[in-house]
Amino acid sequence: MTVTKRIKAIESLVPYGTRLLDVGSDHALLPISLCLSGVISQAVISDINQGPLDSGKRNVAQLCPKLKADFVLSDGFANVEKGSYDLAAICGMGGELIARIINDGGDKARVPLILQPMTHADDLRKYLWENGFEIKEERFVCEGRRVYCVIFCNYTGNNSRYSYSDLYFGKHRPKTAEFAAYAKKLAAAAEKRLAGCSVSGDLAGAAEAESIIATAKEYF
Ligand SMILES: C[S@@+](CC[C@H](N)C(=O)[O-])C[C@H]1O[C@@H](n2cnc3c(N)ncnc32)[C@H](O)[C@@H]1O
Repeated sequence: MTVTKRIKAIESLVPYGTRLLDVGSDHALLPISLCLSGVISQAVISDINQGPLDSGKRNVAQLCPKLKADFVLSDGFANVEKGSYDLAAICGMGGELIARIINDGGDKARVPLILQPMTHADDLRKYLWENGFEIKEERFVCEGRRVYCVIFCNYTGNNSRYSYSDLYFGKHRPKTAEFAAYAKKLAAAAEKRLAGCSVSGDLAGAAEAESIIATAKEYF
């Protein structure tokens, strides 16, 4: 089993002894790896599709039979029993889908959350800050040419203020090579957007793109 740097970064935020809920677990790599390293001994493993859930079951049986696992076919938190987990991971999906899963989860999603959006991290941060979640930490990790962010947050019930640049760069901006790579990616996307705005005459869009490029340059 190959445990990628992305999965390792997610794992690093899971406290010892956690009863983990892995939403959209697919092959169950996260709970298996956490169990093999002795961090967790039980998990709720869920997925919206039967195929990935069956693949997770097979992997647990073969690679980590000591993991006490419940397998739940579920759209987000819908069929998951409240109170059967201390922390939920929702990783490897688009930021908008993750926000939708948290929103639909209601009370069941008001636990510490580890989120790893593959796209639209800005939309996810916006949702969290406008819906009573506090982002406690963000970690950045490079894998080949890809850069990922991993968000750790808690429900507090208090909305947070944020700036336009916070949506894109987050509020936790470590002075690391990984964050510099993340900023470079944002700058490259903003350059493309700027070119499009220049053609279409979208002055507001161009100003937003320019502000992202200027902020990004502070970090690389
Ligand atoms: C790309 S995999 C990510 C697997 C793993 N979480 C990771 O980070 O490597 C996405 C998984 O999420 C599942 N999924 C998509 N939408 C979901 C939803 N609304 N609720 C639960 N699982 C979902 C898919 O079936 C798929 O197995």
